[in-house]
Amino acid sequence: MNFKQSSENILKIETDLLVLGAFKGDKFSGSAKVVNEALGGVLKVITGNEKFDGDMGKSVIVSSTFGKIGAKRVLLLGLGEKSLYSPDTVRKAGNITAKRMRNVCASITFGPEFCKGRGYVSALAEGVILGSYEFNKYKTNNGPVSEIENVVILSENLKDKKFDEEIRTAKAVSESTSLTRDLVNEPPVYMTPSRLADIASSIADEGDLKCEIFDLEEIERRGMGGIVAVSSGSDEPPKFIHLTYEPHKTPKTTLAVVGKGITFDSGGLCIKPADSMRTMKMDMAGAAAVLGVMKTISRLKPSIRVHGLISSCENMTGPAAYKPDDVIRAYNGKTIEVINTDAEGRVVLSDALSYAVHLKADEIIDLATLTGACMVALGTYTAGVMTNSQKLADRLKKAAEAAGEKIWQLPMDDELRSEIKSDVADIKNVGSRWGGAITAAMFLEHFVGDTPWAHLDIAGPAFSEKESNWNSKGGTGFGVRTIVSYIMQR
Ligand code: BES
Ligand code: ZN
Ligand code: ZN
Repeated sequence: MNFKQSSENILKIETDLLVLGAFKGDKFSGSAKVVNEALGGVLKVITGNEKFDGDMGKSVIVSSTFGKIGAKRVLLLGLGEKSLYSPDTVRKAGNITAKRMRNVCASITFGPEFCKGRGYVSALAEGVILGSYEFNKYKTNNGPVSEIENVVILSENLKDKKFDEEIRTAKAVSESTSLTRDLVNEPPVYMTPSRLADIASSIADEGDLKCEIFDLEEIERRGMGGIVAVSSGSDEPPKFIHLTYEPHKTPKTTLAVVGKGITFDSGGLCIKPADSMRTMKMDMAGAAAVLGVMKTISRLKPSIRVHGLISSCENMTGPAAYKPDDVIRAYNGKTIEVINTDAEGRVVLSDALSYAVHLKADEIIDLATLTGACMVALGTYTAGVMTNSQKLADRLKKAAEAAGEKIWQLPMDDELRSEIKSDVADIKNVGSRWGGAITAAMFLEHFVGDTPWAHLDIAGPAFSEKESNWNSKGGTGFGVRTIVSYIMQR
């Protein structure tokens, strides 16, 4: 996809689609007014007929301009309240446009209202690239597909160098987010721990990252008992993946980004009912986000060191499967009593988090589709964030806001800590039903020592059962943009 800015006349520019913005209560200001007049008032008539009022996400289309202007079609997009206008509005606008017009238009031109300065161009480009995303690899008849090839923004608000830089950033982030979505959307028979490790290693080759992969023997030798236990019910061998991005200059700080990589979660012996097992291919979405982040930063070259760590295996019911009542020893020596084999994510993360401490990370952020409880608490569009460092969480919240991803903090309520006390081991892997997202985080906290750490429970937003507004169906790539934005600010 090519992006450029242009100062051509809005009525003359030749394009398959001209996109204009309309604010709530002020539908025909600026370019919409000019275009409406050139079209003999047809935009005004259609918006009246459709009761279009500029609400965010609503749109009307003029599907032929009959040669009255250079553009073949005009899309008027609601941008909501003018006072709330931000790069995120523009990201959503780009997304909606691409969703509606992919497979129809090869060239799209956006009016000048979409480029109000810094951050707007990259957000728009991100929106258009991510809105064009489709996963139809396995459909034998997926129809004629035309792709959006050229995107023009009618503005010269940014110097060319700055414009190109914003496009470069947007491409790096959104192309990696598309990769993350692909990894999540692949069926579990294909996306095994071994495949994830192969993909990690090719990301490392392409992006000049260091890559170490531990196989079962090495995982056992190093005492990563959590991964050994959870993987034991499956024929697929587990993998522990470690990618490192090293900046050119000696870095001031080292961040570890840790992902849950359960490529299929059947629940293990505490098996899930059929309805809950469906979609459990997405239980590696944290790992997929880590790979998306590592791929992005190999292109954007931030100034801090970043370790990407992934514990990957299947959670199955084979004859050697780990059992309720088992006691496991994690990489840092702590012992875990297994109450429920379906709470496997925290068990494999225990090794990866303590490995991050062993690597002397200054900060740790983990991403995991960890609990249904977090979805009950926050719904499916918002990730939970839990932390031992308010400073880190505050920075993360800012990064998420800039990236247009929703995260909400849940409290590490001291009174809940007793829930995971065990009679036979240091801790048990499940407490009572109440506060399940928080007690899961408290379990993880046992493996980060004093290192500032934030846990993102992405069980809700990582996967979307239906396509809606600006969300893609299936894997969403949630977390990549937030973590990249976090890293680029450090
Ligand atoms: N992978 C699931 C959590 C999950 C549920 C992610 C739904 C996405 C959608 C996790 O391993 C799990 O099974 N958690 C259990 C924990 C329980 C046994 C304490 C849960 O949430 O029910
Ligand atoms: Zn589970
Ligand atoms: Zn799981």
